[in-house]
Amino acid sequence: MRLKNNFSIDNKLLTLLYSEPEIEQRTHQLAQKIKSDYGEESPLIIGVLNGVFMFINTFVKAYDDFNIDISFVKYTSYEGTKSSGDVKELIGLGENIKGRSVLLVEDIVDTGLTLKTLLSKLEEFQPKNIKVVSLLLKEEALEEDVKVDYYGFKIPNLFVVGYGMDYNGRWRNIPAIYYFNEVSSER
Ligand code: XMP
Ligand code: MG
Repeated sequence: MRLKNNFSIDNKLLTLLYSEPEIEQRTHQLAQKIKSDYGEESPLIIGVLNGVFMFINTFVKAYDDFNIDISFVKYTSYEGTKSSGDVKELIGLGENIKGRSVLLVEDIVDTGLTLKTLLSKLEEFQPKNIKVVSLLLKEEALEEDVKVDYYGFKIPNLFVVGYGMDYNGRWRNIPAIYYFNEVSSER
């Protein structure tokens, strides 16, 4: 789909940050690097819904190993453009991860609160190890001491939408990443 660099919707001006080809190219690089780091081992890939659905789709197709397992959990913390500070589990883990290598896949790590909550929950089930890949990393917004092993792009402290990410549930299906500047991203 051809998308404009700027467009307005619902009185908001969206500005392009990363186009679909840029995201795909970077995701392919990430998948190759991560695959080569795992070597012969096939990880259990766990995506964090909802925001991750587009990135994980691109990522697992680019991940050149048909022995991986793919699963999902669903966590939520956002109201509008702000973290509520309260991370809720909406869908928990369905599989036994004891002794397994887990690759957690996120759309964006912002304050790091979701990731921190999720990691401490997963650790309880004694996986062999857990690595994290996030398409986006908002480094300046990071408040928690969490390690993101791989990321696609570091972004400034902007609220972004598209490629799975939403503003109050909308715009997830825009096939590129946009930010909007009228809305403050202060916490
Ligand atoms: P935290 O602050 O816990 O945030 O690291 C992680 C989750 O919050 C969502 N999030 C965003 N969603 N645009 C979005 O559409 C954003 O700029 C944004 N920042 C955080 C996202 O689901 C992420 O997994
Ligand atoms: Mg997410």
